[in-house]
Amino acid sequence: MNRVVSGIRSTGNLHLGNYFGALRNFIRMQQENECFFFIADYHSLTTHPDHTKLHGNVKSVLAEYLGSGLDPEQSTIYVQSDMPEVAELYLLLNMHAYIGELERTASFKEKIRKHSDNVNAGLLTYPVLMAADILIHRATQVPVGKDQEQHLEMTRKYARRFNNAYGTELFPEPQPYNFGEELIKIPGLDGSGKMGKSEGNGLYLIDTDKDIQKKVMRATTDEGPQAPFSVKSEAIENIFTLLKVVSTPDTVEYFNDKYNDCTIRYGDLKKQLAADIIAHVSPIRERILDIRSNDEYLSKVVKEGGEKARESARQTVKQVRELMGITSI
Ligand code: TRP
Repeated sequence: MNRVVSGIRSTGNLHLGNYFGALRNFIRMQQENECFFFIADYHSLTTHPDHTKLHGNVKSVLAEYLGSGLDPEQSTIYVQSDMPEVAELYLLLNMHAYIGELERTASFKEKIRKHSDNVNAGLLTYPVLMAADILIHRATQVPVGKDQEQHLEMTRKYARRFNNAYGTELFPEPQPYNFGEELIKIPGLDGSGKMGKSEGNGLYLIDTDKDIQKKVMRATTDEGPQAPFSVKSEAIENIFTLLKVVSTPDTVEYFNDKYNDCTIRYGDLKKQLAADIIAHVSPIRERILDIRSNDEYLSKVVKEGGEKARESARQTVKQVRELMGITSI
């Protein structure tokens, strides 16, 4: 069976882009593979978050993922810092990670540009910690978005380099997880681009029905089709893209026909879109809120997950130590 590892950033709430663009596909992925999902709280320290909020954020993210369908019965779900073995593997892998290649990483260059006041060593070696996360379970696959492809490539390089240096085949070279179809990019409702936290155009899983309604009704539109069968502007195309995700094909066809014969009323289109988004999101939100308030359940999940993850991690670190010549006297 394939082993899949996925790290989850513990900053910010999940929006529809995260859910429909990725998370929804994890539900099948976890049925078909041995999956490890963890909250990357060590990684989040690289940007110096408010340390008084870190713990609460980890709990919230965990509740959001569980509420969205990650299943602790099927997968190993844990918090990165509950498995200190990863810190040791990170230290050991650092001996094979060259400064020059770390400095050339796109994400690092971007961080320097945006946060020149905090160019710390943790940031430079972020890809090494990520490689440790993946290699510690000897993962064969990792679901990655575009922005993480380079990190996965570096993970393969470290796996190869380690295997060559010590004459072993301990680490498989992890490949991107293939969902079998193109993942959908969820657009924002502000006329252009994708939905994102930094774009400030997100519809969140924990938004109330009212929030969703308001945000959708404020979506950017245009002055309406000027002739039958005219090409849609980006703003309208985006609304239809979302409609296709949450509504039935009949509904999409209905509004498409109305657009094509110029009788469409954007107010009706938005009302329909809001109602169909709410139908998807509100049961998820209720589950998230339930889980978030159940401390006992949350700690049971990460305690059991942490133990399973450590079991897998210990075996890897033991072999790495031996291969690198570390044995007790
Ligand atoms: N860097 C990833 C992100 O920002 C999070 C992450 C950390 C990760 N470790 C990982 C993802 C291991 C996959 C596998 O989204």
